[in-house]
Amino acid sequence: MKTAVYSTRAYDRDFLAEANRAARSPHDLSFIETHLGPQTAMMAEGHAAVCVFVNDVLDRQVLTALSKTGVRIAALRCAGFNNVDVAAAQDAGIALARVPAYSPDAIAEHTLALILCLNRKVHRAYARVREGNFALEGLLGFDLKGKVAGIVGTGQIGLRVAAILHGFGCEVIASDPFPSGALEDAGGRYVDMDELLARSDIVSLHCPLTPRTKHLIDERAIAAMKQGAMLINTSRGAVVDAQALIGGLKSGRIGHLGLDVYEEEGDLFFEDLSGRVLHDDVFARLLTFPNVLITGHQGFFTREAMTAIAETTIANFSRFEETGEPLHPVTMDMVAP
Ligand code: NAI
Repeated sequence: MKTAVYSTRAYDRDFLAEANRAARSPHDLSFIETHLGPQTAMMAEGHAAVCVFVNDVLDRQVLTALSKTGVRIAALRCAGFNNVDVAAAQDAGIALARVPAYSPDAIAEHTLALILCLNRKVHRAYARVREGNFALEGLLGFDLKGKVAGIVGTGQIGLRVAAILHGFGCEVIASDPFPSGALEDAGGRYVDMDELLARSDIVSLHCPLTPRTKHLIDERAIAAMKQGAMLINTSRGAVVDAQALIGGLKSGRIGHLGLDVYEEEGDLFFEDLSGRVLHDDVFARLLTFPNVLITGHQGFFTREAMTAIAETTIANFSRFEETGEPLHPVTMDMVAP
């Protein structure tokens, strides 16, 4: 199947090409560096499929344009589909596919990397030692053992983070509108969101972005957090109100902040902008705090996860070609009200 792969980086090309070579009937992949959006949809002309990533936009305008070029399936190289208008895809006759699970461990382990690095100030120690500064002032951390960790969203990733933090000796509490029996096995227990915010030394976000979770962590939620708590977001940027974070950091309510995602990341992440002026004042302000650590949406970026993403993506196309239905479809009944 002729497929236009948007937002391609060299690593995407390598992993997808390898998975495609192993397919029974390999697909004809065209790699495009740019994002998919209203201006670039026409680049899919002559392709039956598009393959997209987290910051590609598949709104009604784009989906209608894609359908006019002959596209019949759009496959996401990720689990979340908050960037897709599912009803519009249905109207345009475009099937949607995703990669529901690739390596929850990859994101869970990155979450721990942020927690440990922020707590023990490894990012600051690294810079200091290279300058010949071996002073310890400002590097004081805390033992994770005995602290309260609040997990928001106990799906695949949240449960892994719960189990790991339980292993560190944390008391793990969690909140999820759809509780899972597996939380107890991971050493945690459910509480309501108010208790989670009030008691947690570390709040870690692992829920999807939906109209209900947009700005779940806003000024009010930050005010309800324990003084000096650590906040970690590796889910989706808009689950947190970034502007409100600045107030929380200035007041000291948020003692440490770790972000792998950012509401306006579409204009920033996955690009080398080191020679350019940063136009996002909120992002720029966040970067000035010594107790803030931001990574550019790299939670998924392990060899194992990239292999699984590429294999499932190719399998989605193969199944669609054979049956008219992808292996892992995104359908209207999966859209949160
Ligand atoms: P999942 O679907 O397995 O679990 C999500 C859980 O959140 C579900 O149990 C759901 O009931 C719960 N939830 C929904 N609304 C909630 C609310 N208001 N409060 C608390 N919990 C709520 O999803 P998975 O695979 O664990 O992914 C979690 C998040 O991680 C998603 O936002 C996903 O987009 C993000 N992600 C980030 C990556 C990265 O590279 N940083 C890579 C992959 C996923």
